[in-house]
Amino acid sequence: MSENLRPSPTAQIVSPFMQEPELMLECVDLCKVYSEGPADVQVLDHLNLRVYAGERVAIVGASGSGKTTLLNLLGGLDLPTSGTVMIAGMNLANLNETQRGQMRNRNLGFVYQFHHLLGEFTALENVCMPLLIAGMDVVLASRKGEAMLTRVGLAHRLEHKPSELSGGERQRVAIARALVTEPRCVLLDEPTGNLDRHTAHEIHQLMAELNTQLDTSFIVVTHDEEFARSLDRVLQLRNGRLAPVETEGAHGVFASDEPSHED
Ligand SMILES: Nc1ncnc2c1ncn2[C@@H]1O[C@H](COP(=O)(O)OP(=O)(O)OP(=O)(O)O)[C@@H](O)[C@H]1O
Ligand SMILES: [Mg+2]
Repeated sequence: MSENLRPSPTAQIVSPFMQEPELMLECVDLCKVYSEGPADVQVLDHLNLRVYAGERVAIVGASGSGKTTLLNLLGGLDLPTSGTVMIAGMNLANLNETQRGQMRNRNLGFVYQFHHLLGEFTALENVCMPLLIAGMDVVLASRKGEAMLTRVGLAHRLEHKPSELSGGERQRVAIARALVTEPRCVLLDEPTGNLDRHTAHEIHQLMAELNTQLDTSFIVVTHDEEFARSLDRVLQLRNGRLAPVETEGAHGVFASDEPSHED
């Protein structure tokens, strides 16, 4: 069993009488080749990953190493060239488009690298959207949306549209939208890259609270070394695969602009 297939130390605190930790997400031999350009680009190459319920995993890697590609596959937003992705025991390849959408709405929250808010809707409407899609009553959805926007420090910006918000504020709306459904697993692509240290710290605290209160799993692409080290595991994406990072003395892996290929 390779190191990155092992449960984290926290997930391994088990006695023979305790239940096995619940596998939240698994991918096996995941390959992704982009064939649109002049030459094929193999971004993921038989990549394996297991994330248990309540685990917090940081993914680091050079620009272009395939971090966003991986998150898109884990969330069923894109399909692999080969290999499997299982979320909460469901093989994504066996679900049709509608079922994949339902699975996402029920289990996953996303914070995209580029926030993808809906420009014609207010901050509050954007955050309420996944609750309304899940069938929640409008009044209750608004109350929850407002509470989550308050937690990310945006109680005073509920009625602003994305174009009327700063980059960091937009990012916080996107974070609130990902967390409002209290998903079992949240995938975040550089969630605090645009934020000042204080605001980033608040968001990290919020994630830690949800992790403790609801056993939410987090898979976070980040260049924030201190934050990555505070999570259960740090994995580096390099040459299409994930490898564990020994967090002591591994400063180089957190830089965003190192080349992704050795040759
Ligand atoms: N739709 C696509 N078609 C062709 N190539 C693509 C496509 N999307 C991404 N790529 C290529 O795949 C590689 C990985 O891209 P990806 O966006 O996953 O990298 P990343 O690690 O998230 O980088 P960054 O840190 O800059 O966000 C890049 O070389 C990119 O050019
Ligand atoms: Mg990216």
